[in-house]
Amino acid sequence: MARHLITSAIPYINGIKHLGNLVGSQLPADLYARYLRGRGHEVLFLCATDEHGTPAELAAAKAGKPVREYCAEMHAVQADIARGFRLSFDHFGRSSSPQNHRLTQHFAGRLADADLIREVTERQMYSPADGRFLPDRYIEGTCPNCGFDSARGDQCDNCTKQLDPVDLINPHSTISGSTDLEMRETKHLYLRQSAMKDQLEAWIDSKTDWPVLTTSIARKWLNDGDGLQDRGITRDLDWGIPVRKGDADWPGMEGKVFYVWFDAPIEYIACAQEWVEAGKGDDWERWWRTDKGADDVSYTQFMGKDNVPFHTLGFPATIIGSGEPWKLVDFIKSFNYLNYDGGQFSTSRGRGVFMDQALDILPADYWRWWLLSHAPESSDAEFTWENFQASVNKDLADVLGNFVSRVTKFARSRFGEAVPDGGAYGPQEETLIADLTKRIATYQAHMDAMEVRKSAQELRAIWVAGNEYLQTAAPWAAFKSDPDRAAAIVRLSLNLIRVYAILSAPFIPDTADTMLNAFGSAPDRRWPRGTPDDFTVLQPGDAFSVPENLFAKIEDSQRADWQERFAGTRI
Ligand code: 2FM
Ligand code: ZN
Repeated sequence: MARHLITSAIPYINGIKHLGNLVGSQLPADLYARYLRGRGHEVLFLCATDEHGTPAELAAAKAGKPVREYCAEMHAVQADIARGFRLSFDHFGRSSSPQNHRLTQHFAGRLADADLIREVTERQMYSPADGRFLPDRYIEGTCPNCGFDSARGDQCDNCTKQLDPVDLINPHSTISGSTDLEMRETKHLYLRQSAMKDQLEAWIDSKTDWPVLTTSIARKWLNDGDGLQDRGITRDLDWGIPVRKGDADWPGMEGKVFYVWFDAPIEYIACAQEWVEAGKGDDWERWWRTDKGADDVSYTQFMGKDNVPFHTLGFPATIIGSGEPWKLVDFIKSFNYLNYDGGQFSTSRGRGVFMDQALDILPADYWRWWLLSHAPESSDAEFTWENFQASVNKDLADVLGNFVSRVTKFARSRFGEAVPDGGAYGPQEETLIADLTKRIATYQAHMDAMEVRKSAQELRAIWVAGNEYLQTAAPWAAFKSDPDRAAAIVRLSLNLIRVYAILSAPFIPDTADTMLNAFGSAPDRRWPRGTPDDFTVLQPGDAFSVPENLFAKIEDSQRADWQERFAGTRI
């Protein structure tokens, strides 16, 4: 038994996430966590909401709520939806927690002591009417490139040109509307990543088994222009973690907070502390401190490709630079993007399916199966309703659902609601068992390697093998001439349902539960050991019941209706 720490990138607090966000981090992380638990390992699976930064402030303002209150509410909403998708976090924390405040300030202090932080004086837009410096997103004006009159200080949404607030024509504050803006000097802290370039590069070079997507992005940033750039880690905002050097004030930095990307990954550690404080665990250090046992932990992070630079360079720079024995990540699994029906998911335009809407129309397992079996691993992927319908109807309804229903209904009608006695397994059964034993080993190898699509394909092939066996062995025909033979086929088929449930649980946990519950409240739920005994666990006389239909097919009319509904209107 090994110990596995798993973290999913922590979603921004500003609204409900779409399916593209889900498949890029939380869902594959959950798949892996469930799989490892299933195999008997000790797992700590953590996620949280990422609550700081301008997007949080802006979303709260739009909702007309104080940001603290907005974050608390949205955290509850996101936690509820995560439960709906059966994301099995051991703790779903908050980056605004007191634990993260303390730890972020602690890291900043350590980095300063190690001379890895420098103070830089910059000129930035100041709004006397608002009494504050304005982050780029709080300034709007006319785009010098295309004339669009609501271009933001960092980018024009109309022509996508990257902008500097000083480029804007007639700039104004989006808070007060004031046009009385002036450039003023302000001081910020920079993390001297450049001083750690060689160390970080050597560390990345040692990760020869990481996905190319991960290492190629890291290398690009390591060699960005003259090399790894230093990074501003403070902002002039009200909402965030106040800049302090450990427990002490930081002269000249009064009223400033840490940049959201500095404190967000530190929340991975703080979240383990929150987990303990919530009474769910008793020792976070054995997961995070290599001097307290975390040397034995295998740590895997899941994230979308846009998050890779911060996890391969920024966060490791914080950890290494602290000079303290914190656990570094062992494997970074990153994902490309999922697009939506010929375009992109768009949170602002409400284009695509959002997590709450998805659960309103179909149970979690339908989505989990499609998303994971089409995970954007080697390239971007695309959600289309046609593909979703075909995949649900074929894989889930025709293959798995149909197998379970045919076996249990036939068994009940001929032998009653108990596993039938009868003849021994014959050559057909032995061939199937040998084939499945091999396939299960392949499935495990893909899951161990976090090859999500390949794992789904192999799992589907395992389901198909059962269907084909049932079709060829044809117990309904055998029953007439040789009831013992039919009993043997049914006995193996019922055993297959148990094995399938256990293997499928990481992908479709609710359905797996329904399948296992067909065998009473306490069937053996242990992961197959890879021997023929796996297929004789259910013994003659063991009771079973016929479960409800596992999956309903998606009708063409439903598909058309949903297609229209999610084309992009939600505000
Ligand atoms: O891209 C995002 O959704 C970010 N909120 C991810 C942060 S991950 C981490 F650093 F904690
Ligand atoms: Zn423009």
